[in-house]
Amino acid sequence: MPKQPHESRPRICDYEGSNYRTEFWEARGRDYEDRVERVALRRLLPPAGRRLLEIGAGFGRLTNEYHAYEQVVLLDYSLSQLRYARQHLGDADRYLYVAADAYHLPFRPGSFDAATGIRVIHHISDMSAVFRQVRRVLIPGGVFILEFANKRHLKAMLRYALGKQSWNPYELSPVEFVELNFDFHPDYVQQRLEVARFETEKRLPVSFFRLASLKDRLPTDLLVGVDGLLQLTGLLLTPSIFTRSIALGTSPNQLDAASIFACPECGGELAHKGAILACHWCDLRWTVRDGIYDFKAPLED
Ligand SMILES: C[S@@+](CC[C@H](N)C(=O)[O-])C[C@H]1O[C@@H](n2cnc3c(N)ncnc32)[C@H](O)[C@@H]1O
Repeated sequence: MPKQPHESRPRICDYEGSNYRTEFWEARGRDYEDRVERVALRRLLPPAGRRLLEIGAGFGRLTNEYHAYEQVVLLDYSLSQLRYARQHLGDADRYLYVAADAYHLPFRPGSFDAATGIRVIHHISDMSAVFRQVRRVLIPGGVFILEFANKRHLKAMLRYALGKQSWNPYELSPVEFVELNFDFHPDYVQQRLEVARFETEKRLPVSFFRLASLKDRLPTDLLVGVDGLLQLTGLLLTPSIFTRSIALGTSPNQLDAASIFACPECGGELAHKGAILACHWCDLRWTVRDGIYDFKAPLED
């Protein structure tokens, strides 16, 4: 398979060394958002499974939700986010840490029976390419839980109606409101999932009360409880939407294979010797550093 030159690859929103955990979550009182996302995730995730891929796992904020899976693979482009996750979750066989790009997943086809992507697809300019990758690494019937930022939410509709927002929330095309930060129309996401051979079974609106004025005044328990009920209405007017889709069609089932890894550049088999993974086909070599499989760039000769 020909390699894609790096300059023609989609741009990546790089969190390397970022203070996402401390600044975005811990310093900003986002307990409400964290909790309602967990409510949605518990509703959608099959209660147990073999191996789950967490795409854009970050520092592992939600990884403890996957406790009923035999193995969880945390994949993120940022080594520093994964290092933090590893320090907190540890190195039990249950957790594998993989630094890689979601556009080039370093796994053999059919290695997972579940995958999640929460708060990551809004950084992805070519959603279809990532969905194709996710479909490839899932077994048929595998479950994909996706969260995306909704462009057709109530506040955007009101702002548009009042002439305070230039972009149209009803248009299908994504809006890039800040570089590499996209909001998506729910129907656009569903179409892209279909093209990648997923059937969307459920869509849950999440975060009805993402307003500082409400969060400051009302008890979080109350907001979380009411949000949990409103999620069941299916009213897709919220800034965040969770979906559950099923992988259609045929593909291998390699859940029992000795290794899940494949070369991210050519898909070739990797021979694992010590800390080095060498591709049989294209000769590229990758390494494991401090317990993290590093597929961001091959080793130099
Ligand atoms: C907003 S954080 C969300 C982290 C986690 N899912 C959560 O909800 O707390 C987005 C994460 O996606 C990762 N990311 C962005 N683009 C990526 C890509 N192309 N491949 C892999 N990870 C990516 C970033 O490194 C970052 O850790």
